[in-house]
Amino acid sequence: MRTVILYLLMVCLVQATAGFVFEDLPSVKELIREYGYDQDLTLEELKEFSEKKKSLKLANKVEEYAEYIPNSRPIIAILTQPRTESPPYNSYIMAAYAKFVFQAGGRVIPLHWDNSLENITDTLKSVNGVIITGGDQVIQDPISLIFSDYTNRVKFVLDQAKEINDEGSYFPVWAICQGFEQLSIIEGPEYGRLSHATAKNIPRKLEFVRDENGEIIRGRIYKEMSDDLTKALEAKEIAFHNNEFRLDPFAYKYDVGLKAYNVLAYSRDRDGRPMVASIEHKDYPIYSNQWHPEKNSFVWKETIPVPHSKLALQLTQYMSDFFVTECRKNTHKYGTPEEERSAIIENHPVEVTDGSAADIYLFY
Ligand SMILES: *[C@@H]1O[C@H](CO)[C@@H](O)[C@H](O)[C@H]1NC(C)=O
Repeated sequence: MRTVILYLLMVCLVQATAGFVFEDLPSVKELIREYGYDQDLTLEELKEFSEKKKSLKLANKVEEYAEYIPNSRPIIAILTQPRTESPPYNSYIMAAYAKFVFQAGGRVIPLHWDNSLENITDTLKSVNGVIITGGDQVIQDPISLIFSDYTNRVKFVLDQAKEINDEGSYFPVWAICQGFEQLSIIEGPEYGRLSHATAKNIPRKLEFVRDENGEIIRGRIYKEMSDDLTKALEAKEIAFHNNEFRLDPFAYKYDVGLKAYNVLAYSRDRDGRPMVASIEHKDYPIYSNQWHPEKNSFVWKETIPVPHSKLALQLTQYMSDFFVTECRKNTHKYGTPEEERSAIIENHPVEVTDGSAADIYLFY
């Protein structure tokens, strides 16, 4: 913490102005300017400076801002998925999701989907955000629509995340592909029904939602994305999809639960049918994509057309920077460095597979 510089503080504050608890804070830089001092400085220097100036106003701000100093050691939980093919291991995480976090300076712990609810609740209090991954689980009975045990766990994690936010910690969630589908049926029980999609293993263009002036509504997810990259996403097929289901755009117009989200982008399946592609919650830092932000840089199976162009790699990097930066906004951590070390994903074996999952971490 000691070495956190004001620059990072500013980055955090600028990025945070999109919403949530950060909204009304004035810029620290403006305050510092007011006092005739304008350079990067640590929180300690900022404190010293306010004392030297005997400024109560600045001292109060220091206190206030201390809460929002970006956490420089983000640890993100990734929910494991059931797997029966590799006994004695019974759950797994595709390594691409972990690498996605690593490349933005975060670390990863596995959140065992079948652990007790108490264990999951407690674990979430030690980490800075959570990822619900893609996969090929049965998420719901197709006739009765009853959720699978796995989807019920995703619901529990989502509820816990909202509760942590309600209690005052900024706690982000990122749900990808199957995670997006689970989020849709959990949050939109009325209209969040999934339809069939022909979008297995295919990169697609994105169609961003625009305002009445034709400007892209960037929301928080796409706020910092360069114009080059947003243009490329619309013009080229670099958003990699691997889904057999889709959520029809109309669901977001009518479902009371899904109205809590803004849709930022759509895509189309092989038959041209529209799919909701990117959403973010209006009040919580909950983000979700039908497509895979993580595969472009990390999945290399020859027969699958994962894009590896320079722009495609920039997309993966941008998305991981976005999410890990979100996770820097709370100060959850493990009680001791030993607990932290024994929790991280590197304690577990990796298996190189021949499938589209590429390499996977395995767990008991
Ligand atoms: C949760 O369970 C895991 C084992 O799956 C254990 O390593 C961890 O310490 C438990 N965490 C809490 C907070 O109980």
